[in-house]
Amino acid sequence: MSKAAVVVGVQWGDEGKGKVVDALAEHFDVVARYQGGANAGHTVVAEGRKYILQLLPTGIVRPDRQALIGNGVVIDPEALAREVQCLEDAGVQVGQRLLISDRAHLILPCHRTYEVAAEAARAEGKLGTTSKGIGPTYEDKAGRRGLRTSDLRDAAVFREKCREFLEEKNRLTAALFGSKNDDGAWIDRYLAVSQLIVPRLINVSAFLNDALDAGQRVLFEGAQGTLLDLDHGTYPFVTSSSAAAGGACTGTGVGPTRLDAVIGVSKAYTTRVGSGPFPTELFGEEADKIRERGGEYGAVTGRPRRCGWFDVPLARYSARLNHLRTLVITKLDILDHLAEIPVGIGYELDGRCLDGFPADATDVERLTVRYTTLPGWQEPTFGLQEHDQLPRRAQDYLKFISAEIGVPIAMVSTGPERQQTIWIGSSSHRVIG
Ligand code: IMP
Repeated sequence: MSKAAVVVGVQWGDEGKGKVVDALAEHFDVVARYQGGANAGHTVVAEGRKYILQLLPTGIVRPDRQALIGNGVVIDPEALAREVQCLEDAGVQVGQRLLISDRAHLILPCHRTYEVAAEAARAEGKLGTTSKGIGPTYEDKAGRRGLRTSDLRDAAVFREKCREFLEEKNRLTAALFGSKNDDGAWIDRYLAVSQLIVPRLINVSAFLNDALDAGQRVLFEGAQGTLLDLDHGTYPFVTSSSAAAGGACTGTGVGPTRLDAVIGVSKAYTTRVGSGPFPTELFGEEADKIRERGGEYGAVTGRPRRCGWFDVPLARYSARLNHLRTLVITKLDILDHLAEIPVGIGYELDGRCLDGFPADATDVERLTVRYTTLPGWQEPTFGLQEHDQLPRRAQDYLKFISAEIGVPIAMVSTGPERQQTIWIGSSSHRVIG
């Protein structure tokens, strides 16, 4: 069985990775988040209780699992404190099961202010971000001026670094957006919450490599999705981190040859939240119906998600980029009502068939999608647990998707609860190889 597996979103996020990571975590000792921040919304339903995790690794919900936040994640200390409190109130003992990289960057209040001002200034070309300060924090990381978790270890050093940082930042935001100065009133609040962070700081790379050396199993949890990846997604309508599988290495400090499986999670249809091109997007009543049936509203922002048909070329692009070993298909039951199900099977641009996925978002916007229509099953699949129980046409739908992408489907999710899951090929071991 795989010792180090990565779970990635195949589409634009919200594929249901939370449930999948929770299900797989049963077979792993450590779950490590490798990128993003509290822009994610991973929903887990366990024993009738619903947990929405934004920053914490999903593994935290299972007792005895070690949950790690890698260096590739950006942390809002106050959001982290709220999330830990929320979980503890719900009876989940977090304690020292949560460990945090001493190299992760901190989201500061001015990052959120900057993001809101930058979005407002964009007028037409808004990215539709989550306003959590994610992009500006990664900008400062790349600009080599960011503050990191390790800076919280010494209050005096932290204050001094914040002062230097604000001096530059204030000049910049005043010049760009006319924003008023950030007086650093939050510094004391951050230092107060640092009591939650500092005792948990570790070198995540050393921890994970030692754990793997000792024969432990590690699950790397991606947030967002491959088409939101900063390098490979529909740039500039992307998030600011490496959401694809490669991010697991840079975001935790584990070498690529240690990873032995990548599991892609995809909805049985497609959704997207925020701006940007979406070739198989649906509008009107058909979209509304899927949105309502699928509860397609952002877990973080509550925004209605845009809905569309399954997009084979997009999934194929994602499968290759991540070198997917297996696929998990979620929310199959949302399509139960349909008499016919169109599936996007090819792209054309300016009258020419395309092989790959265009680099330019304006080209993606201009694509014409070729569809094939599969017959719907019009029978309930909600909660089914055996592949044989699925209507024949639902089995054919899955078979078609898998054959078109060239990746076997190893798990199908038929509802939010842990047990509403079909393991194809007799056991969960198939999924992780
Ligand atoms: P940011 O990550 O807040 O900078 O937002 C950039 C883009 O990624 C926006 O279109 C967001 O809606 C989208 N996004 C960020 N996080 C998620 C997520 O967890 N699920 C789906 N979309 C997301």
